[in-house]
Amino acid sequence: MISEHAPAKINLALHLRRRRADGYHDLESIFAFTDFGDTLSGEVADGLSLALDGPTAAAADVGDDNLVLRAARALAAAAGIATGARLHLHKRIPVAAGLGGGSADAAAALRLLNRLWGLDWPLERLAALAGPLGADVPVCVFSQTRFGAGRGDDLAPWPHDVAGTPVLLVNPRVAVATGPVFAGWDQIDHGGITADAPLRDLRNDMTAAAVALQPVIADVLAALAAGGEASLVRMSGSGATCLALYPDVAARDAAAARLAGSDWWLCPTRII
Ligand code: C5P
Repeated sequence: MISEHAPAKINLALHLRRRRADGYHDLESIFAFTDFGDTLSGEVADGLSLALDGPTAAAADVGDDNLVLRAARALAAAAGIATGARLHLHKRIPVAAGLGGGSADAAAALRLLNRLWGLDWPLERLAALAGPLGADVPVCVFSQTRFGAGRGDDLAPWPHDVAGTPVLLVNPRVAVATGPVFAGWDQIDHGGITADAPLRDLRNDMTAAAVALQPVIADVLAALAAGGEASLVRMSGSGATCLALYPDVAARDAAAARLAGSDWWLCPTRII
């Protein structure tokens, strides 16, 4: 039995540029990953199977179109593998939360089965296979801070080292579907991401559309900003999870303690 960590994805910035003819959007984003995530484990078996448990397993899709199983089938087909696997996912990442949980799990499946089946493919080759599974799956294969353009899968290094930065994730326990948030974007292009701009000057262009669907997101952003300790407060992905970055663990934990009376989901973690 071997295991893979499936780190949650956060967007330190997410700039929308244009709506494309294929229904997707060209965007620019700084992706980062947290210590917090799901755990996928597996062993060789006849056929493919997936069992789920964990605090957010009930909200996850356990059917045949689960992204973990789709990733496994895609890798088996590409590698000509007839061996199966018995997979087990311990799900902690909130579902439909802007944290890329399903994408992280699919990417973890590619990495795990790459080892379990003795393929030894480089991550780049796994990432190339990941695009059809979802726009965020290729970056999740690397699970390292990256700049993404196009659908989010045209990846480049990000020149600033943010590893170790303390993060507080806050979700007001409302699920937000990605498609309607993209559809609610006002289609005004406010410009791209430049590496020399301070993170604070960058944006998440999905915020207004997400707040229109779930106004409580504005309360989360205001509560995170209120303490004044955070160096950055931003919604992640299409929401509803918001993130705050802190100069040190004490400041992060003080912010978490301040919010502990709410019924929101709080997760103190750090960027990996
Ligand atoms: O690729 P994925 O299945 O994760 O995307 C979910 C939905 O998010 C898409 O169906 C599309 O509506 C939207 N999306 C988009 N532009 C992107 C990424 C996702 O419009 N770059």
